[in-house]
Amino acid sequence: MKVHLKNNVYWLGKIDWELQSFHGDDYSINNGSSQNAYLIREEKTILIDTVWSPHKNEFMDNLEAEISLDELDAIIVQHGEVDHSGSLVELMKKRPDLPIYCTANGVKSLSGQFHHPEWDYRVVKTGDTLDVGNGKSLVFVEMPMLHWPDSMASFLTEDNILFSNDAFGQHFAVAELFNDKADQCLLWEEAIKYYANILTPFAAIAKRKLQEVIGLNLPIEMIAPSHGVIWRDNPLQIVEKYVEWSDNYQEDQITIVYDTMWDGTKKLAHQLAAELRQAAPNTVVKIFNAAHNDKNDIMTEVFKSRAIAVGSPTVGNDILSSVAGWLYFLKELKMKQKKAAVFGCYGWSGEGNKVLRGLLEQAGFEVVEPEVRINWNPRPEQLEEMKTIAEALA
Ligand code: FEO
Repeated sequence: MKVHLKNNVYWLGKIDWELQSFHGDDYSINNGSSQNAYLIREEKTILIDTVWSPHKNEFMDNLEAEISLDELDAIIVQHGEVDHSGSLVELMKKRPDLPIYCTANGVKSLSGQFHHPEWDYRVVKTGDTLDVGNGKSLVFVEMPMLHWPDSMASFLTEDNILFSNDAFGQHFAVAELFNDKADQCLLWEEAIKYYANILTPFAAIAKRKLQEVIGLNLPIEMIAPSHGVIWRDNPLQIVEKYVEWSDNYQEDQITIVYDTMWDGTKKLAHQLAAELRQAAPNTVVKIFNAAHNDKNDIMTEVFKSRAIAVGSPTVGNDILSSVAGWLYFLKELKMKQKKAAVFGCYGWSGEGNKVLRGLLEQAGFEVVEPEVRINWNPRPEQLEEMKTIAEALA
């Protein structure tokens, strides 16, 4: 399958409707995904990226149905992660002389993964160009930490297409591939989930890089990322969203995340939601069980929140592993300027709140002083203590 983008530019990737997880099981896929590779057929024939190795045969068949591999003049490897470079070995078996354009860090990641130091690497940096013929060039822009040190984007002049690799992508399968053909609710849900779960740790770098790209005044008419839809209808709308998201983004939302053993801590969580409805009636309040709800979807809600409350009973002088594992992930995302509160029940030693507080502080949250720590099952009058947390967060 190929899809025409514009003039002599085509999509030649893989729409994966059945994918259920990504990065091992670290990222949940709810609406399919795609790996987008692109073919430019000007005087030169250029391939931009490939697809993940499980789809390498299908990819090579599609490519060879389109062109003779002898026609290929170069491949641009914008990022070494295997969802985009996974078919490279197969391609290089058939065209071992093919020049590979990538960043200096790209050479490190490709060599480290595929062990072919003899490949013809052509290292590029920001501002370098590749003439593709017919008056058009690819201009390269290094995008370090968006989201790997080796990442880069490529801008095709005259056609004004920005091939952005992972930036501006989503794990989202859309048969027609273009943003104006997608279900808009799902598209934005998947775009913010992708940003929240993958790009949040690099927000400061993203903010600087976005200003740099905007400052280049490129006449961008289409943004073609390596996952999900191609932005052809008002392509800058996703850039504007990234500018917002990279600036300590928050909505008027408070998210409660908890796990429970015998429902005591669950009662506290739901009482807090009720108290928040009183204390902050305009604030959106959501509740998730860390053991039952999807960790990435919870993280998206936390990304949108101005404050969170985290609860766990004490178990083994510590907290439940579902909450502990989730907090470790939260720490990795380095969210900023958000408040947090802690609560939990205990039977004997009662260290849970202290552990929660420590982990949230490590994750960069400002943990408010009031907390609720209940011995055994909360009595009705003890539930009212959740008001102190609600008021501190409201
Ligand atoms: Fe960083 Fe889509 O790979």
